[in-house]
Amino acid sequence: MAAVFASTTRTQVAIVGGGPAGLMLSRLLHLAGIESVVVDNRAAETIEHTHRAGILERDSVRLLVDAGMDRVLRDGHRHDGISLRFDGVSHRIDFEELAGASCWLYPQTDVFVDLHARRTADGADLRFGIADTEVVDVETTPRVRYSDTEGARHEILADLVVGADGSRSICRDLVQGARRYFREYPFAWFGILTESAPSAPELVYTRSERGFALVSQRTEAVQRLYFQCDPAEDPAAWSDDRIWAELQARLAGEDGFHLHEGPVIERSVLPFRSFVQAPMRHGRLLLAGDAAHTVPPTGAKGLNLALADVRVLAECLERAIEGRDDSALDEYGERALARVWKAQHFSYWMTSMLHRVEGASDFDEQRQLGELAGIVGSRAGSAYLAECYTGWPR
Ligand code: DHB
Repeated sequence: MAAVFASTTRTQVAIVGGGPAGLMLSRLLHLAGIESVVVDNRAAETIEHTHRAGILERDSVRLLVDAGMDRVLRDGHRHDGISLRFDGVSHRIDFEELAGASCWLYPQTDVFVDLHARRTADGADLRFGIADTEVVDVETTPRVRYSDTEGARHEILADLVVGADGSRSICRDLVQGARRYFREYPFAWFGILTESAPSAPELVYTRSERGFALVSQRTEAVQRLYFQCDPAEDPAAWSDDRIWAELQARLAGEDGFHLHEGPVIERSVLPFRSFVQAPMRHGRLLLAGDAAHTVPPTGAKGLNLALADVRVLAECLERAIEGRDDSALDEYGERALARVWKAQHFSYWMTSMLHRVEGASDFDEQRQLGELAGIVGSRAGSAYLAECYTGWPR
């Protein structure tokens, strides 16, 4: 017997995933006159309160502003450089001078809030908090099916489906014959939010004998800090005092650097992995963002890659839909993956240059210090880091 649906909706593009990638795509399509429906099994409030990275590349800021969301320019903070810190000494990498670009501290949660408000004001069809999502018939006539909070089934019929459903994507499994590239790391990050004033005006990426640490910021009264830990670490097992002692020890140096301490208001352990799935298209289904690729957090590329994906995808979808030209759908993956692999290398490189590997030999440790000294001591080395960090041109 045919399933009975409480509602059936026709749209041009069904977007699975209402995080920054899915919502930005729906906004760009809307600006191009293309209709979409966005579904996500999380509540919007859950996404709004899930703390993620905080750095936007130059072109990510441009995309937000050009798409009508300019709060980043008022509430974000422009950063013209970062510091690499090792052997207890900080070395500044000046992005403006070396790459003619900067980046912005603007948390992913704010990017989501802006996009959600914008799409709500557009009158968009956004369906958060749904369950049991299923995507079928992606080779012919794609449909997205799900249950609402009362358990009733709904169906969306679409010309195309985009899987922007994050690192636990259900859509990626529908790409038959795809190749998966993986790398696991033997560590993770312990991330905290703390009520205390910023300890540094810019980010400080630190290599210490106790492992990596990163000093970031959020507001005048809240800091975001991270330190390398075991992937099995239980955040609840760490008292505030123990967290501060560990962070202070990793940042300590002859310059007397000292972190401003305060209550820890949020803590979590972030997994580490490098992952790419290719191709990014199967039939009428396309993948974007973490659904197709994940990077380790060092270098803050994840959100930026997702936004770069959907900028290219919106353009290709527009050509495919308006011009009835399916070759534009294949072009998407090729263009997106060129950037993805550069970002994979950069995230891997920043990770390997700054983290402590259990069992590393004296040779490995000295070589790592030699690599850092080589980068900060060379204009070309520093410029390479600055170019990657602020983002590759379109
Ligand atoms: C932040 C996170 C990162 O992974 C990074 O490389 C830089 C900053 C952050 O949350 O602020």
